[in-house]
Amino acid sequence: MAKSIEILINKAPLRYSIEVESGVLAKLPSLLRKKLHLKKEETIKIFIITHLHLYSLYGQKIQKALIDDGFQVSIEYVAVGESMKNWTSAEKLLNKMIDLKLSRNGIVIALGGGVIGDLAGFVSSIYQRGLKFVQIPTSLLSMVDASVGGKVAVNLGVSGKNLIGSFYQPSLVVADLDTLKTLPEHEWRFGLSEVIKYGLLKEDGGIFFQWLQEHKDSILQRTDNSVIEYLVAECIKTKANFVTKDETETADIRIMLNLGHTFGHSLEAASRYRISHGEAVALGISLSARLALKLNKINNIMFEQILKMLTLFNLPNHIDKKYDFNTSQLIKHFEYDKKNEGNSVKFIIPSKFLGHCEVVKGISEQVLQEVFAESIY
Ligand SMILES: NC(=O)c1ccc[n+]([C@@H]2O[C@H](COP(=O)([O-])OP(=O)(O)OC[C@H]3O[C@@H](n4cnc5c(N)ncnc54)[C@H](O)[C@@H]3O)[C@@H](O)[C@H]2O)c1
Repeated sequence: MAKSIEILINKAPLRYSIEVESGVLAKLPSLLRKKLHLKKEETIKIFIITHLHLYSLYGQKIQKALIDDGFQVSIEYVAVGESMKNWTSAEKLLNKMIDLKLSRNGIVIALGGGVIGDLAGFVSSIYQRGLKFVQIPTSLLSMVDASVGGKVAVNLGVSGKNLIGSFYQPSLVVADLDTLKTLPEHEWRFGLSEVIKYGLLKEDGGIFFQWLQEHKDSILQRTDNSVIEYLVAECIKTKANFVTKDETETADIRIMLNLGHTFGHSLEAASRYRISHGEAVALGISLSARLALKLNKINNIMFEQILKMLTLFNLPNHIDKKYDFNTSQLIKHFEYDKKNEGNSVKFIIPSKFLGHCEVVKGISEQVLQEVFAESIY
């Protein structure tokens, strides 16, 4: 069994730990008691939110272990897909929580990818003004990114990606690397887009970016546990660092994590979620790189390096013209983006060298049109 890695995030009193280990789910009841300071004599209700197939794979075992340890456990399933991360699903879950008479000492567990994590976190944040919630990320994307940092949200209609949400930190994140073994190949690749984002963001002079290139085969094949463990831990540590410095994105620090996301969200929403979040982030990274090139923030060599990195991991680095996007509509989507400040959208772009990004704003519509036009083929 791999060693356990504990990463602490945020400042007190919102500090919590992220446990990364193969097989760590077997320790869930004791971890909950220890990290959430739960007393044995107290009756605690746990509400697990997951997908049916993840319940069969992992939930059933978790449920049994928790019941054996004295917890009262209820489960609710959410259908798969980004389109389920909506207000209707949230309302259904909230009604279920009322039916279960979940009180302030209850705990919500999100067992799944980023969709489950965002949705479960959101309902936890508003039910009785906030219940404890625990993230058990099972997709690569949620392990390296979505489960960490406390951004929780649902989408409003097709345009309003993550428009209704809160900053609400989990009490604990338990990332069992073994769960990644059942993740479909395409979902693995989609998660790698957030990993590449960290390669560009981590302020280490491009060392992690280069490490990813060197371990490409092993990463794609998912064969070497130590490689996967290092990859997941490095991304979480990088995210934890940004979040701890700027939890609610008020300084221009946490916003860096949105690299690729401003473009990505517009593509995701405009495709009515036919483009997955991971693919959209990959495309968003390529568009951000193109914008950086246009603004002379990176040279052609670095631009090509970024595009090549995406291809190396079988991710898209340009928008397929089959989508037939109306570029003016894509630009209009930026208006919904929460990174809007006044009339100006903030974009995060790579700049100068690998392992360095910056915020730019006031980009003209004409430049954005050019960026899209050159990226669609
Ligand atoms: N809150 C944040 O900071 C943050 C950051 C990044 C992304 N997100 C959100 O995360 C979402 C995307 O997350 P995602 O890519 O995990 O998508 P997802 O949650 O839809 O999961 C993708 C698919 O993988 C399946 N799956 C997950 N784990 C599995 C496993 N171990 N074995 C088999 N199947 C498994 C899921 O059931 C689903 O079908 C988006 O809604 C995005 O907005 C949030």
